This record gives sequence, C-alpha cells and structure tokens, in this order.
Amino acid sequence: MIPILAISTLFLAITVECQVIRPDCQEKCGSVAIPYPFGIGKNCALDDNFVIICNDVDPDRPKPVLGGHGSLDIIDISLNGTLRKYTYVASDCYTRGGKSDHSNPASSGLHKFFYSATRNKFTAVGCDTDARLTGSARHQRYSSGCMSICYNKSSVTDGSCSGIGCCQSSIPKQLSRFNVELQSYDGHAQVWDFNPCSYALIVDANYFYFSTKFLQNMSHTVPTVLDWAIGYQNCTEAKKNTTSYACIDHNSYCQDSDNGPGYRCFCRSGYKGNPYINGGCAGIGILLILLAAGCCLLQSYRRKQMHIRRKENFFKQNGGTILQDRIDRSDSSINTVKIFKIKELEVATDNFNERRICGEGGFGTVYKGHLSDGNVVAIKKSKAVDMRQKEQFINEIKVLSQIKHQNVVRFLGCCFETPEPLLVYEFIPNGTLSDHIHNNGNIPRMSWSTRLNIAAETAGVLAYLHSEHSPPIIHRDIKPTNILLDDNYSSKVSDFGCSRLISKNENEMCTMVRGTLGYLDPEYLQTGQLTEKSDVYSFGVVLIELLTALKAASFERFDEGWTLVNYFLSLMNDNSVLEILDKGIVNEDNAKEIMEVANIAKACVAVKGEERPRMNEVARQLQGLLTMLKHKWATENLNMEETEYLLGDVPADHCGSSIPTSVYSGTAEGFMALNIDGGR
Ligand SMILES: *[C@@H]1O[C@H](CO)[C@@H](O)[C@H](O)[C@H]1NC(C)=O
Ligand SMILES: *[C@@H]1O[C@H](CO)[C@@H](O)[C@H](O)[C@H]1NC(C)=O
Ligand SMILES: *[C@@H]1O[C@H](CO)[C@@H](O)[C@H](O)[C@H]1NC(C)=O
Ligand SMILES: *[C@@H]1O[C@H](CO)[C@@H](O)[C@H](O)[C@H]1NC(C)=O
Ligand SMILES: *[C@@H]1O[C@H](CO)[C@@H](O)[C@H](O)[C@H]1NC(C)=O
Repeated sequence: MIPILAISTLFLAITVECQVIRPDCQEKCGSVAIPYPFGIGKNCALDDNFVIICNDVDPDRPKPVLGGHGSLDIIDISLNGTLRKYTYVASDCYTRGGKSDHSNPASSGLHKFFYSATRNKFTAVGCDTDARLTGSARHQRYSSGCMSICYNKSSVTDGSCSGIGCCQSSIPKQLSRFNVELQSYDGHAQVWDFNPCSYALIVDANYFYFSTKFLQNMSHTVPTVLDWAIGYQNCTEAKKNTTSYACIDHNSYCQDSDNGPGYRCFCRSGYKGNPYINGGCAGIGILLILLAAGCCLLQSYRRKQMHIRRKENFFKQNGGTILQDRIDRSDSSINTVKIFKIKELEVATDNFNERRICGEGGFGTVYKGHLSDGNVVAIKKSKAVDMRQKEQFINEIKVLSQIKHQNVVRFLGCCFETPEPLLVYEFIPNGTLSDHIHNNGNIPRMSWSTRLNIAAETAGVLAYLHSEHSPPIIHRDIKPTNILLDDNYSSKVSDFGCSRLISKNENEMCTMVRGTLGYLDPEYLQTGQLTEKSDVYSFGVVLIELLTALKAASFERFDEGWTLVNYFLSLMNDNSVLEILDKGIVNEDNAKEIMEVANIAKACVAVKGEERPRMNEVARQLQGLLTMLKHKWATENLNMEETEYLLGDVPADHCGSSIPTSVYSGTAEGFMALNIDGGR
C-alpha cells in the first residue's frame, strides 16, 4: 500500500508541477516558479498586472520583479492568491549628539495588488520611536501607527514585539499610496549606545522574528505579502463574459477577492493544480493521475519541440545560417568546414564530461572528443559571441578554413546549436613547445636539431601567413604555448586570427590576459599599430627561448626592468651569449650554427620594426641551416640520439594520464591557446 501511495503522490506532484505554466512560457525565473496567470513577458501573462520581468543583470541569479512596479525581487508566488516580495525598511538614524543622521522614510506607489491585511504587520523597532503609517485605504485617508519607548537594553527581549523596543499594529485592507514617518522624542540621546536608529516596516508576520540585534542594525529590505486578484469585477460580473473569465478549468470555482476588487479561481476539492489553465485542475485519483501522466508526456513533447526551436534559434543567432548559406552556394573556399550537430559533439565528449577537459581559461573550455568516424578532435566551448560580431565571426571562420598549411592546427568546423558556438579542431597529441622546453624535469631535453626544425617550421608558417594572403594574416600571439607539437615533433601553430576576430579592447585582453607581455612588440605597445613585424618580434623571442630554455613571460631571474630580450641582447653585445644557452645543446659541431640562430634572433627583436628582417627571409635562413644540418648527418652517418628525437619517440598523450601533472597544466594552457576560433 505504501509504495502505491508514494507513487501516486509522486505522480500528483509531477502533474501539479506540469500544469502550472502555459506551454512555451518560461516556467521559472532563477529559482522562483512563475505560475499562470503570471508570466514572463506579455504573451505569457494574463494581463499587464501579471507581467513579470526576469531581471538577469546577474545571469547566474536572475531575479523576478513585478512589471511596472519598479519594485524589489519577488520571493514566491502562490496560486492561493498571494505573492511575497521584498520591500524597503524605513530608517531614521542619529549621531551620538542627537542629530538626525539620515532619514529614509519608505513610501510606496500604487499597484493593482494590495498589501495583505491578514499576513502583514506594520512594525516599528527602536527605543525612542514613534512610527506612523499614513495613506489611503478604500480611497479614504487614514493614519495609524505605534510607539515604543524604553530606557534599558536589558528590558528588551528577543521574539517579543509587544511595545518594548518593538511594536506592531495591523494594517487595513486595500492600503495604497502610503508613507511611513519616523519620529523620536529626544533623538535617541539616552539610548544611543544600544539603539541609534528607529526603523519602520511592513513585514510578513510569519517571517518577522524580533531580535534585540535589530536595535543596532536592521537589513534594508524585508519580505512582505501582497494579495493578488484577477480583474476589477466580482465573480458574478466576471462570469458574464465567457471570453475574459479566467477560471477556465471545468473543475475550478470562483471566489471574490477579500482585499480589493477582482476575483480568484480555485480547484474544487478533490482536485489540485492551476485553475487558470484549461485542464489545469488535476483530479486526485489513480485514473485521473494516469490521465495527467499522459498530459505530462504531451507537455514534455512540447518542451522537446521548444528545445528544438531553441537550438534553431541559437543556430541563427550565432551565424549558422550565414555559414550554411555560403556552404550551400558552394563557396569553394569554405566547404571544408563542417557544421557539427550538438548531438554528435555530445556523444564525442561523453556529454562534455569534466574528465574530457583538456584546457580551461578565460576564453572557454577545451574538451577532447572522439568522433564516430574515429577522428580525435579538440572541441572548444567558447564564450558567447557578441551579436554585433556575428558576421565577423563567420568571416573569421572563413579565414581559418582558408589557412591550409601542414604546420598549422587544422580547423575542422563548428556547431551553432548552443548559446555559445563550439569550435572543433584537429587534436594535437604531444603538448606545446612550452611543455618541452620549460619542463625538462619531466620530458627529455630537446635536441638542437629538433629545436631548429621547430623554428624553421614555425617561421615557414608565419612567412606563409604574411605573404600568401592578401591582406596578410598577422598571427599576433606567437609564443611557445601556441606552438603545439605532433607525434613527430613537427610544429603546429595554433591561435591566429586573434586580431581579426575581436574588438579593439578585447584585443588588448587577448595579449595581456594571457601574460604574453614578454612577446609583445614594443613598437606595437607604443603605437598600437600592428604589422607583420610584430610577429617577427614575437618569433625572435621564441627563438631566444629555444636557445636558452628560459621563459620570456616570467623572467624572474633579474631585477625589475630586465626582460629576457634585453638580457639576451646585452650578452650578445658582450660576446658572452654562451652563458645563457641551454646546457647540453651546444657542442663543437653546432656552435657556429647556434650563433647564427642567435644572430637571427637578435635581428628579429630589434626595437624598430623596420630594422627587423621579413619573415620570408628568416624562414629561408633557418631552412638553410636545417638543410645543412641534415646534410651533415647524412654524411656523418647519423647521430642515433638525435634522430630518435626527430622521429619523436617520446610518448606523451595530450589528455592522457601518462603526462605528469605539471606538464598537464602546461598542456592545458597550450590548448587554451587553440583559440583560432571566433569565440570571442
Ligand atoms: C493554499 O491554501 C490552502 C488552504 O488554505 C493551504 O492548505 C495550502 O497550503 C495553500 N498553499 C500555498 C502554496 O500557500
Ligand atoms: C538596567 O537594567 C539593569 C539590569 O536589570 C539594572 O542594573 C540597571 O539599573 C538598569 N538601568 C536603568 C537606567 O534602569
Ligand atoms: C548593518 O547590516 C547591513 C546588512 O544587513 C550591513 O551591510 C551593514 O554593514 C551593517 N551596519 C552596521 C553598522 O553593522
Ligand atoms: C458584484 O458586483 C456588482 C456590480 O458592482 C454588484 O451589483 C453585485 O452586488 C456584486 N456581487 C457581489 C456578490 O458582491
Ligand atoms: C469580454 O472580454 C473581452 C476580453 O477582455 C473584451 O474584448 C469584450 O469586450 C468583453 N465583452 C463584453 C460583453 O464585455
């Protein structure tokens, strides 16, 4: 019997819940349920009096307020005809000398809904307090109030609002347009030590519990109860007009409001639910419960439809249609970009399981995903796109999809069915260059030939971006965490298009927040003018890091004012650069090449952009050195150790557990760098 009862109760609870709102209307604002006749927006509410505004200034905690009332948050709404909301507390405070510090009498405007005369009490708190409520009730002016005088703190007791430190009086029905006045007899002079202020409030008597602490300080707002009712007619009158009569459920009945004009609807005994919705009063009986369960199914079907519609909306809002259009018009440049379905990506990431997170940061979260076709991808959930940047976002994706270079992370596509677009990239398994040159404790030190190879490949990418595109693409955030490495230690540059994507201010964020100050072109910092030469500078810094294994972004070794770049330059000028070269990379054979690379780095970080070489030139020189090196190997019959590194024999799964924690976090950073996307 008990299980059956429990199940029935559950069903009933579901049913009642399911019947409370109109289809297609938002059922909650924050944690507050909004039952019809109330509704968020005009179309969801019975009439203007019942419109709720869902104030989502703080998107994490949206708050409902009554429309047009300019009022404070609603706490809850009951279909019994009451609504609880916050109202202000009036206060009158004094300085020790007895001067009024500030006075803040509360007053309230007119609204269709009246303060509940049964639930609320006019309450005053203080030991030198005369509180008065003046207003009009049933269109008659009236005034009432209470007074509390006391001299000794010990005479005031918690929980007792009976005239000592706290007094209460009832309020009349249909109270509207009232004012609260607070007065004191001698400016709290005798009681100031424990009671500097008087307070007056209309408060839900069920909620209010007097505490002696209130004599010192009270909150600014308290809950009050409003009575609500439909329309301005009584039941007899309202029933005459069948189109406007609100008690539309067959099992409902009408009752005149006991506080002002209007009426309310209730479900007959034996039924529960919302009488303002057709079919809203659900019967309490197994049969009816089954019926109601059917209705719930229907409702859930409707919700699903709504969900689909929402997805379609996001698709449109995020620019999906524009992209789709271009694909349909077979814009050849763009048709390699795939538009993913959210379902597909959910399956790939195990519903965006936390354990699939590879990286996290200010720009979003990166998940490792396994697509059904076997491909491993990195999926980035970016922050919401500014609507104005929608077109730009699409253009950005277009640019990204045009970049086809073996040393660039491949952008595979995007998904627009979520509030914030998702971007899908090829997954690069071996972490970032930063992991490899700055975490020597965990990963074998990279050989010189591998470093030179990475440098030459990266330079090649930049030369390609600068010269084979018109207008040139400036990467603008070259740094070791943005250079990913694949299984063969080939470099995969990520995170470009930063400058194209985003508005001026966010640009700054893009470089500053990521702490890439160490890589930023000093000329750009001064002029704000971004050119290809800015990339040359950043690349120079990367070269210096490859040579020294020191970090440019957190160069703490020296006094303030020393950057890795100027330290390097000063050693170059003293011909003592060997001092900071990474231990173990220099030997008799390669000392000359390393010096050549150091000279290239020096040229790249010249203060004046015009003095820096072009990326083409840099790439050509590095490629030349690399070719020479390879040639030397061939003739010298291979140095085994070095080949091993070049072939990439060091296993490190990017998201896998084989990576030590310190590297893992570094890797995450690297993946954050994957924001080629238009996510911003
Ligand atoms: C509505 O009123 C009924 C009877 O007065 C009471 O039993 C019920 O708890 C009330 N419901 C709410 C949500 O206040
Ligand atoms: C206040 O109360 C305390 C304790 O009851 C008492 O000792 C004191 O005399 C009282 N002071 C005044 C001013 O009544
Ligand atoms: C009074 O209480 C409010 C919050 O209830 C608090 O913000 C304020 O700092 C308090 N003031 C004093 C003097 O304790
Ligand atoms: C309802 O309102 C009408 C018109 O104001 C009035 O004549 C009638 O007496 C009212 N009925 C009840 C039951 O109050
Ligand atoms: C009945 O109510 C509707 C909707 O409020 C209104 O348009 C119509 O004029 C009313 N009919 C009568 C006879 O009052």
